[in-house]
Amino acid sequence: MEESAATLIVYLLLASGALLWLVFIRNKEKIHLPPGPPGWLIIISLLRINFSNHSLQDYAYKLHQKYGSILTIRMGSRPLIMVSSHELAHEALVQKGSIFASRPPPQGLIKLFSTDQTSINGAPYGALWRDLRKNLMTQVLNTSPLKSFREGREWGMEVLMESLIAASKNKELGGVVTVIDHVRDALVCMVSYMCFGLRLEEKSIADIAAFWTELRHSGVGLPLNDLFPLLNVFYRKQGKRMRDLRGRQHELLVPLIERRRRALTEGKEVGRGYVDSLLFLTVEGGRRRLSEEEVVTLCSEFLNAAADTTSSVIQWAMARLVMNEDCQGKLYREIADVMGKRGRAVEEEDLRKMVYLEAVVKETLRLHPPEKIVLSHAVTRACSLGGYDVPAHAWLNFHVWEMGMDPKVWPNPSEFIPERHLNEEIDLTGSKQIKMMPFGVGRRICPGLDLAMLHIPLIVARLVQKFVWECKPGEVVDLTETHEFSIVMKNPLQAIIKERDSQ
Ligand code: HEM
Repeated sequence: MEESAATLIVYLLLASGALLWLVFIRNKEKIHLPPGPPGWLIIISLLRINFSNHSLQDYAYKLHQKYGSILTIRMGSRPLIMVSSHELAHEALVQKGSIFASRPPPQGLIKLFSTDQTSINGAPYGALWRDLRKNLMTQVLNTSPLKSFREGREWGMEVLMESLIAASKNKELGGVVTVIDHVRDALVCMVSYMCFGLRLEEKSIADIAAFWTELRHSGVGLPLNDLFPLLNVFYRKQGKRMRDLRGRQHELLVPLIERRRRALTEGKEVGRGYVDSLLFLTVEGGRRRLSEEEVVTLCSEFLNAAADTTSSVIQWAMARLVMNEDCQGKLYREIADVMGKRGRAVEEEDLRKMVYLEAVVKETLRLHPPEKIVLSHAVTRACSLGGYDVPAHAWLNFHVWEMGMDPKVWPNPSEFIPERHLNEEIDLTGSKQIKMMPFGVGRRICPGLDLAMLHIPLIVARLVQKFVWECKPGEVVDLTETHEFSIVMKNPLQAIIKERDSQ
């Protein structure tokens, strides 16, 4: 921890004071909240999480084992309700969708990086959120604009294949590649093309990739104090680092945005990108344009959401394929059946013929959703869930990973068995029934679902079509997780790759 020992003692005393306050000054409201641990236990547990490598997710998992699939954590006056049941998630997010579709007011880091709730993911349910989300869908993510970004995907794929072939031939590396490094660079090309409407120069791509690596390692993905402001005292230094990083993010993106603005006003633009739509978008009933700060926020939300989660899932998928030779062989045979043994590279249109590939991707998302808990939700008014009261100021977390691990729904849940998705069509939108919800469900469902379900299978298919993937001799794949923006492999997958044509 960053604070000196003396300061820590003061903080612990403060925390103890808060503890006494929680234990003795009970909230007098007579509402029927879901069960949960007493306040003193929560404070001790949160301090332990804060000082250790344990995650909030692991803590929540243990609590669900003890208190059931809906429980309350009370810190001060605002209850945090945690839900791990498929049925209750459906009741909240689909059946009562409009009530559970808001976001809590942001604290600390989230506030900083969402420009006070003008990112799509941070905006409360209302006019601004609707305008921003509709713009993203119609201008970028719907079928027709998505097709127009194909050149960007091909560019990313070229970058990926060239860098992997070079690495596989590099004698010093002995054919060993660190998968995530190559995949992330390729995705930065693809999504920056979608954002800025053109192929950025190598330097800009390298700067964007380097900045996001720094941000990922800065701990921004662990905003425990955003959920529990009582912990703010432990995050002061991190807060300063984040403000610096936000400043640098601004310096990185503003020149790219301004260049695009000039090209558009001078009629010199080529292609089209997300940023074009943001520069001319009017929001809140046409009353205002977006500020520069807000455009930076929305571009960085897009770049981050589209590249980070996707590359993390691809790394997990490749790890599972390295561990499961049979699955890798079966997947290769499917690709070869559709494309021919020495046929052309897999294209987007070929994916729909590859059912086993889709099953591999879904099984990876079930076991390794990039977010184990979807972004926090808030209600628009007091209501009920599963027979319990949900007060208007409550926050809710839905535990996606636990839903994917429920043995009543998924026999042998810890095993990687893509075949389980072949017999049954699992609808990832969960509109009729939820079995797994890696993209969330309901009004706040991830708008990038279709894009992710294009990028992930396309990249995995090309990787398996081109190379045989093997574990380093004498090593096993280490599935230990760590939380950056998303849940990633603590020790990034390193695999030996061999070009299939050269075998
Ligand atoms: C494997 C890839 C991805 C996964 C698993 C994923 C998952 C999620 C989840 C769980 C949420 C929160 C849902 C909720 O609050 O209930 C979310 C929200 C969001 N995602 Fe994704 N995502 C992925 C890729 C993408 C991509 C490619 C984009 C591209 C733009 C994207 C953009 C967003 C945005 C803007 C939101 C906020 C939606 C809102 O609050 O209305 N995501 N995503």
